[in-house]
Amino acid sequence: MIERIKIFDTTLRDGEQTPGVNLNITEKVEIAKQLEILGVDVIEAGFAIASPGDFEAVKAVSKEIKNATVASLSRAVEKDIDRAWEALREAQNPRIHTFIATSDIHLKYKLKMTEEEVLERAIAMVKYAKKYCSDVEFSAEDASRTRPEFLIKVVEEVIKAGATVVNIPDTVGYATPAEFGNLIRTLKEKVSNIDKVDISVHCHNDLGLAVANSLAAVLNGAVQVECTINGLGERAGNTAMEEIIMGIDTRKDFYGIGHKINTTQIYRTSKLISSLTGIKVQPNKAIVGANAFAHESGIHQHGVLSERSTYEIMRPEKIGLSQNRMVLGKLSGRHAFEERLKEMGYTSLTPEKIQKAFEKFKSLADKKKVILDRDIEALIEEKVSEVPEIFVLETFQITSGNKSVATSTVTLKRSDNEITEAATGDGPVDAAFNAIERAVGTSFTLEDYNLRAVTEGKDALGEVTVRVSKEGKIFTGRGVSTDIIEASVKAYVNAINRAISEIGEDALKINAQ
Ligand code: KIV
Ligand code: ZN
Repeated sequence: MIERIKIFDTTLRDGEQTPGVNLNITEKVEIAKQLEILGVDVIEAGFAIASPGDFEAVKAVSKEIKNATVASLSRAVEKDIDRAWEALREAQNPRIHTFIATSDIHLKYKLKMTEEEVLERAIAMVKYAKKYCSDVEFSAEDASRTRPEFLIKVVEEVIKAGATVVNIPDTVGYATPAEFGNLIRTLKEKVSNIDKVDISVHCHNDLGLAVANSLAAVLNGAVQVECTINGLGERAGNTAMEEIIMGIDTRKDFYGIGHKINTTQIYRTSKLISSLTGIKVQPNKAIVGANAFAHESGIHQHGVLSERSTYEIMRPEKIGLSQNRMVLGKLSGRHAFEERLKEMGYTSLTPEKIQKAFEKFKSLADKKKVILDRDIEALIEEKVSEVPEIFVLETFQITSGNKSVATSTVTLKRSDNEITEAATGDGPVDAAFNAIERAVGTSFTLEDYNLRAVTEGKDALGEVTVRVSKEGKIFTGRGVSTDIIEASVKAYVNAINRAISEIGEDALKINAQ
């Protein structure tokens, strides 16, 4: 049995393939830095050849990250590998991750290649990648539906060619735990040189078994688990990292395996990803869902109050869930605020970010008597998702009622110009969004609108996340305020500023000066 598992995080690559997710370079670097703090072994930063944005993101992450390996995906073709290496070359610990499908169905309908051709290509491309980089991972896409004899052959040959990690994906989430565990055991038994490499697994969640399949693989000899935060990923997503880690951590008695993840950073990482991607975590999601540590029924509450372990198998503090205590008041100074941030684990914020968050805290303290840890988290996350403010909200005014048409007047500032526009709408939020669009001089499609209360109580902060689309791209915006209309307006302006910073004003047909 292995001593500890290695975590290969693919939130920035497979996770970013979640429909509607579109992260910019700053956000990707911010996520990579948090993954480094979390303690992952490998960060797959993107698919360098896929787009110029992906390439730049892999490059930026490579420059920034010192304590984790940085990987880029590449098909098993020379030009992909060249591009991956170009993006990775400044990384302290680079890894080229190259893949080709090996199942009959992929060979016949997608690649239109024979097994011999695939084998030859896999060997040649691992050797090609090796010329650039000593750390080369090879993935046999759709491995779980591959003829086992062929898979054994491919794995043996890519190891001879120099692969350092061999990844066995359940690409379409088809495997069952017993079957997938057996497959890993078979490879351990039948591939003569298997001990020279780390076996990795990469499972998709189409049948809800990604975590179970990965854990079955670990029990049978897999060393590396590929996963994403919150289980993000195409279709039903990938293996959720937080579930793997808390599974082996909580049941160490059963798995007998360690890890090097700082579990107290799990909750913060999950929140960061959900706020930057705009993908909410379902309330009953294991480990990081809002209800994961809530005890609703009287019997459970009574049990937990007299002895936590009656209904609680993990302590919330273990994943860094804040106690939600009252932290600071109106009279607290910057020093106390900074100290509290440190206690909450925000140790790598720049002085500018702290100052801006402190200003927000002060203005919140004027409106809200009791400020809790969760309020502070919301303010910090608002700062993290900041983009250059081309349009700044100056003022807004709303009239609405059950017998009148909602009307809104919004003033935005652009450099020294103030633009004021009014519009009506189906309710105050719609009216405000229409007025913003008039002021900006272009329209967007609202794909998703989400409002949540950050804490309990009538004076709670409201956090709004919007996803808008234009020109086939989706942009996320976030706003926080004790006034939900203000939070909505801020989120919409934030999404528009993000769209401008990503694809430019011309592409958006913006005509406000
Ligand atoms: O699901 C999959 O097979 C993949 C590979 C490219 C690793 O994402
Ligand atoms: Zn995948």
